[in-house]
Amino acid sequence: MQSCTLGSLLCAAAVTACNTAPIPSNTADVDINVGVDDAAIMSTLAGHRDSPAFVRLNDAPYPTALGTGADINVYVSANAYVPYASITPETSGSNITVPEGTLIVREVLEDSGAIKTLTLMYKGPTGYNPELGDFWFGVTDAEGTPVLDAAGAAKIGKLSECYGCHIPRASDGYLFGVPANVRPVLTDPTEPVPPTPPPVMPLPPPPAPTPDPVCGDFACNGDETCETCAYDCVCANELSSDLDLNGEQLSLTSCRNGLVFGFRGVQLTAEGGTRVRIGASQAGEAADVAVAPPGSDRATRVAGCAVLDIADQSSTINGVTNVAGNATLDCSGSSFLLTGQVSFSNCH
Ligand code: HEC
Repeated sequence: MQSCTLGSLLCAAAVTACNTAPIPSNTADVDINVGVDDAAIMSTLAGHRDSPAFVRLNDAPYPTALGTGADINVYVSANAYVPYASITPETSGSNITVPEGTLIVREVLEDSGAIKTLTLMYKGPTGYNPELGDFWFGVTDAEGTPVLDAAGAAKIGKLSECYGCHIPRASDGYLFGVPANVRPVLTDPTEPVPPTPPPVMPLPPPPAPTPDPVCGDFACNGDETCETCAYDCVCANELSSDLDLNGEQLSLTSCRNGLVFGFRGVQLTAEGGTRVRIGASQAGEAADVAVAPPGSDRATRVAGCAVLDIADQSSTINGVTNVAGNATLDCSGSSFLLTGQVSFSNCH
């Protein structure tokens, strides 16, 4: 038989078996009431590579011991993983058998790595094939369709051509198993496992800006005003006036504390640049009023023509205390006539 012409060590064993134990007739002692369901085996086979019903024994594809140069992969149905994994071709006499219903799939690969054929062994019920451990055999193409023999019959069932090499493995359940050196390396469970570092917690989000007024947080909120917190609230000048200069309404745009210029009082600036200074050297005294035209530093002054009421506020901007107050003017000088009222605050 063909198997006995191959030169590997395993085949040498098979040769011995061939010579000393002729293949028994596959009709002897067969219980005709015991059979296997070919269709059920074929449907179990479908998708064996990805199916959780199968376990692959080897890591990377490895060369068959038959010396044909082909690489193989070997899978076993998960129910028989433990006994089958205990069988290896390096040893014999394990007396291990696999349970009924075990399906072993041996992929024979092409050079490209694609599946060329599947060779199958299925453990049938007791009495199915007493000559060979009740095994059913099969050869299919990559898709699992049985290959046809020369007579056109599907190569499934009690294939006597398969017996020669597997009979010498009778003391190992008629199986070769997968060499230890091609199995995946498993982590030794006695190895101390390094402690897992605690998971890195994501940083908490930054706290939301406080809605409570905090002077100095650069948010003018709550009951903060430029009076209570000039850090946060800009103290804009507040002006309201009804002043008439030489017959025209004076529209004020800003004010400053007169101390910036060295006098006690207030300086008002109007649209166009006209500046009006109202100053009193002593509280209760009639105030002097000076008017400088736009673009000129030379002012004309009328003494004692206004009533000024001025007070410091509690807020300070850039080191200048705010002042607030009001004044009534009735001034006529050589170059201007200024009358009316003004009230001001936040002047710095
Ligand atoms: C020339 C000897 C020989 C013949 C004939 C033979 N086998 Fe094998 N078989 C082996 C060897 C050796 C192994 C171990 C895997 C390897 O090295 O290829 C094996 C393994 C298997 C396996 C994996 C199960 C195990 O034993 O661990 C299956 C399935 C299988 N053969 C099916 C078949 C089928 C089906 C036939 C008939 C078409 C067949 N064999 C004929 C030698 C043979």
